[in-house]
Amino acid sequence: MRRWAEMGKATEAIHGHEFKEEPFGAFIPPIYMSAMFEQRGETRLTDRGTELKYSREENPTVRALEKVLAKLEKGGDALAFNSGMAAIAGALLGLIRRDMKLMIPMEVYGTTLELSQTLSEKIGFTLETVWPETGRIVEHIVDRKPDIVFIETLTNPTLKLIDVREISKACFEAGCWVIVDNTFTTPILLNPLKHGALMVVHSLTKYIAGHNDIVGGAIISMTPFIKMLWDWRRMLGGIMQPFEAYLTLRGVKTLKVRVERSSKTALAIAEYLEDHPKIEKVHYPGLPSNPYKTIADKIFEEKLYGGIVAFELKKGKTEALKVLRRTKIIKPSPSLGGTESLLTYPVISASRALPEEFREKLGITEGLLRLSVGLEDPEDLIEDLSQALA
Ligand SMILES: Cc1ncc(COP(=O)(O)O)c(C=O)c1O
Repeated sequence: MRRWAEMGKATEAIHGHEFKEEPFGAFIPPIYMSAMFEQRGETRLTDRGTELKYSREENPTVRALEKVLAKLEKGGDALAFNSGMAAIAGALLGLIRRDMKLMIPMEVYGTTLELSQTLSEKIGFTLETVWPETGRIVEHIVDRKPDIVFIETLTNPTLKLIDVREISKACFEAGCWVIVDNTFTTPILLNPLKHGALMVVHSLTKYIAGHNDIVGGAIISMTPFIKMLWDWRRMLGGIMQPFEAYLTLRGVKTLKVRVERSSKTALAIAEYLEDHPKIEKVHYPGLPSNPYKTIADKIFEEKLYGGIVAFELKKGKTEALKVLRRTKIIKPSPSLGGTESLLTYPVISASRALPEEFREKLGITEGLLRLSVGLEDPEDLIEDLSQALA
């Protein structure tokens, strides 16, 4: 029998919760809808040595999910939160001090940028933004010696692939910590901890839960860091709720097949769009014409390139908004990673916090749309795009 560390990710996602306390022999972790747990003298401890007494601190359904997440991301332990932003806030608050410097690429999820700016103003740490390219980030690390570097593996929305190996190596030499938001790539394509990152954060709302029906987040790291952040979660009260944890446990079981399927459909759609006369440019790291394809082939584990495709219309905003209004199966909505395909207009959603001049330079133009490819039949999605573009 292989040890957990040697098992495949599909097996880990299905069995990694290790749940075995149910007196009736159920092998699916139940939803523990209980705010409190009895305390009659003896202390009931979780497997990580914390007390099981109150669901703001620990809950067995949430704990089962955390065990799966820690295995999938090759971490020592995990903490589940009630949103991706709660996880990111927990990670930043737990690590940062007033005398520190945080470096963050300017093309990250807008609320992450807003949070970093707001915290920097309130707490007084230095925040430096940098152009989202591996070489520029490495130069910045060498020259400016930040204490914490926060990156997203694939930038949102133009899908620039940041090489986590290079960033972690530079940070190791400069003595800084790397936090990686692995939401877009998922542990199926990439495990940043294996490449030297200190911490991985996720919006579980996206691929991991995968069905567009819950909001959640997580931090995965080495056990001592998770112990320290556990206190932050307890104080902030940001733990995931048991029903959401149950749905996420159910969703994560199919993560690998979902990522495989949406990546394959996304490649077919990217190829279709690249040849379309109304399209100026397609951003997808799996296209041979894409500047990040070579790094993607080196760092993505499964030779898959993810389920997000961004594309720019030649006629800009007018045409982009028309497409957004005309799709029938593909829903106009600013999320990603679920069973339903979603189309979003980044200028007014995830990238709205960015000043206009930066947006243009980053390629987040008024004609850009971001498609999260779901699990519908590929030919129906292509047909839908075709009629919307016609
Ligand atoms: C890359 C990324 N990180 C974090 C978040 C925040 O996650 P949540 O909406 O679950 O708080 C999002 C949300 O869209 C995201 O796209």
